[in-house]
Amino acid sequence: MKKHDCALFDLDGVIVDTAKFHFLAWKKIASTFNYDLTSNDNEQLKGISRSDSLQIILKMANTVIEPSKFEKYLAQKNLDYLDFIKDLGPEDILPGIFETLIFLNKRKVKIGLGSASKNAEVILSKLGLTSFFGIVIDGNKVNKSKPHPEVFLRGSSALGVAPEKCLVFEDSASGIISAKAAGMTAVAIGDPDKFLNEDFCYPDFMSLVQNDLDKLF
Ligand code: BG6
Ligand code: MG
Repeated sequence: MKKHDCALFDLDGVIVDTAKFHFLAWKKIASTFNYDLTSNDNEQLKGISRSDSLQIILKMANTVIEPSKFEKYLAQKNLDYLDFIKDLGPEDILPGIFETLIFLNKRKVKIGLGSASKNAEVILSKLGLTSFFGIVIDGNKVNKSKPHPEVFLRGSSALGVAPEKCLVFEDSASGIISAKAAGMTAVAIGDPDKFLNEDFCYPDFMSLVQNDLDKLF
């Protein structure tokens, strides 16, 4: 197997299970449009920016809002989300992540974050993981969100590693498309039925660590 010099991590749903809090916060917003957002609907929102997510929910709910209200809904969603994650701490790091970061450090593999979230820096800090990341590319730094490859290409370029030597860990279909469009190896975490073009898929991060981490780097 090809060895990689750089690992780029998605945040929500890979490092920490904040995906469920995004879902709950969006469910609350959707209910104001009399729409019951399902977990199936939510799969389409994973990896998608806050503003694009609201556009998608409005379409699902068949609802049109005044443009002036758009920002208000975004702000409300984020307030609710921040409330859900207010007690987040190192104990919430998903199994296998910490061991992997230590392993990568020992192997001198460069580490970056590629997330659509504008809350990424805050969350990494709450988890106590900031110092592991050589670069953080988040929703404040990209112009085009996943499935566009910008987020991962910026990460690899900032770390000075060619895309084909980078490996991406992702839990969203849009993120896997983004990683492949960037010319990187895409490792999907979750149910293989959710993804289209991943290189590898593991049900959770721990099974990757126990079986294949050593072969990938
Ligand atoms: C992604 C999540 O990581 O970040 C999406 O998968 C979320 O669900 C997006 O919408 C933007 O996050 P935030 O924190 O900027 O609202
Ligand atoms: Mg994710």
